[in-house]
Amino acid sequence: MYSRIESIGSFLPENIITNQDLEKRVDTSDEWIRTRTGIKQRSIANENQATSDLALEASREAIKKAGINPKEIDLIIVGTCTPDVATPNVGVMIQKELGLKNCPAFSIEAACSGFIYALNIANKFILSGESKCALVVGAETLSRITDWNDRNTCVLFADGGGAAILKPSETPGILYSDIGADGAYSDLLYVPYGTSRRPPSEKDNNHFLHMKGNEVFKVAVKKLESIAVNAIKRNNLSVEKIDWFVPHQANIRIIQAVARRLKMPMEKVIVTLDQHGNTSAASIPLALDVGITDGRIKKGDTILLQSFGAGFTWGTALLRL
Ligand code: COA
Repeated sequence: MYSRIESIGSFLPENIITNQDLEKRVDTSDEWIRTRTGIKQRSIANENQATSDLALEASREAIKKAGINPKEIDLIIVGTCTPDVATPNVGVMIQKELGLKNCPAFSIEAACSGFIYALNIANKFILSGESKCALVVGAETLSRITDWNDRNTCVLFADGGGAAILKPSETPGILYSDIGADGAYSDLLYVPYGTSRRPPSEKDNNHFLHMKGNEVFKVAVKKLESIAVNAIKRNNLSVEKIDWFVPHQANIRIIQAVARRLKMPMEKVIVTLDQHGNTSAASIPLALDVGITDGRIKKGDTILLQSFGAGFTWGTALLRL
């Protein structure tokens, strides 16, 4: 028995901000952003769109593509670090809009690893028989916690949503999934405000992301290499047997460095960073959707998913579609 991704849906806000737009706001250049990060443009939610709106659009698309009745959904898990409000959680908001009742619905706060964490948990619910149809979502409005006057961060982050429908299957499926974290790195990427220790304050930028970018970069490359090697070894696979590598889209140089260390040709890597920027928990389902929709990822392909985010948190999943 496996769980299997039946479909992927995604949604990007219509409003696009290009590197040229950012040149007008902060001391940066299109050339610097492209060469240092790989990003050319990003989608940013308009003021009426919150994370649950992006999550809902992506979920509706995933439901449509899976050809299921939404009433079949018996579990909703959303990875997000930018929920609409402190409570209720984004999962409950989607549940209400889909007209569902009674199924568990909750959010996972694991930053950019949110989708892989949610997938890992939903996989266990399906394997235990507790869920027969799970909606797994990664959605963010990072624009709301980005300081648009800080060139170190505003060139990177973006908004979007991605969703998957998971069902039990006799054929593989999710072959493997592993998640982890190390709180020792919590001061390299964080938002100082919260609802408990420090309420948000407009005065002192505490509700914005703070980041030591080059330190994050170094830890990310090492950790991503090691978890990928681990996933491949533990499943008696080799890099040659992986058809597609779908990494979290944070920085093209991180992706290239990990691919180089794994000896994974870049032709097998799905890159959406140039168009999407870093959409945190949404980045992997968004990239998967692009790869499937443009015909590169085909049924039966073996795919390695991989994430890394604030915390630090990380996760991998090996799957067949
Ligand atoms: N435009 C122009 N110059 C910029 C800039 C920008 N948008 N942002 C930073 N700089 C400058 C810095 O101020 C610094 O100038 P200085 O040498 O005069 O002090 C210089 O560029 C180099 O800065 P550095 O931070 O060493 O650059 P970098 O090559 O490490 O690239 C990041 C910066 C943020 C792009 C890169 O470190 C990165 O992507 N890190 C990972 C971040 C990440 O992925 N976070 C999310 C994890 S899920």
